[in-house]
Amino acid sequence: MRWEDRIENYAKETGFPKCLFVGPDRRVVGTWIMGNDYRVKSTYHGGYPAGYLRRIRALFPDKKQTLHLFSGQVDQAAFPGDTVDINPKLKPTFVDDAQTLERVPLEKYDLVLADPPYSVEDADHYQTTMVKRNVVMRALQRLPVGAHVVWLDQVLPMYRKDAFEQEAAIGMWKSTNHRFRGITIFQRRDAAISNNVAAAGKRRSDKTARQVELAASGN
Ligand SMILES: C[S@@+](CC[C@H](N)C(=O)[O-])C[C@H]1O[C@@H](n2cnc3c(N)ncnc32)[C@H](O)[C@@H]1O
Repeated sequence: MRWEDRIENYAKETGFPKCLFVGPDRRVVGTWIMGNDYRVKSTYHGGYPAGYLRRIRALFPDKKQTLHLFSGQVDQAAFPGDTVDINPKLKPTFVDDAQTLERVPLEKYDLVLADPPYSVEDADHYQTTMVKRNVVMRALQRLPVGAHVVWLDQVLPMYRKDAFEQEAAIGMWKSTNHRFRGITIFQRRDAAISNNVAAAGKRRSDKTARQVELAASGN
């Protein structure tokens, strides 16, 4: 599905203005101002603000199997899916560490929504240690090609450029006295395809270099 169609569906299903744009480099940018209803339905610390899941769901009508990573008390009526959290008291589908995801059959999901603790202070609230974001992204390399990862955070996680393409960057504003957050949307890419593209680029530049040499030697 093209991003233009995702944005069209977002506007149709949510009724919000089309405040996402496809840039000339094909990257999607935009800002969401979440309005007055910023409360977290579950009241869980760091829970998704009202409306967040509805917006994301409207962007991905084509997805069949969603995984909520760092799931906390995610509202599953708003966005059904399997859940992963390190805290067994929350009764997730999988009790697992997001940095390994050993118990999670990642190959069956085409969409992951990730909402990690943003800081050591946040992690303290959950009585966990702060996660290494790049290690989580490495574990997510087991997702099938084409799967999307929607990562809500105050930091852009480190990731391998041959494993993920950063397709969208959306700023999220809540009400006064709340932190700004960023939504980064990655797509799991096919390393073979990206290697082929790189190889084709190299072949083109080698050919140009040969033509320059031939022109310089007068042949
Ligand atoms: C920001 S909260 C997520 C809140 C969720 N979006 C919601 O709407 O309720 C972060 C969650 O990450 C979990 N967590 C922390 N470290 C983790 C780890 N290493 N692996 C999996 N979950 C972890 C915490 O238990 C907490 O529930």
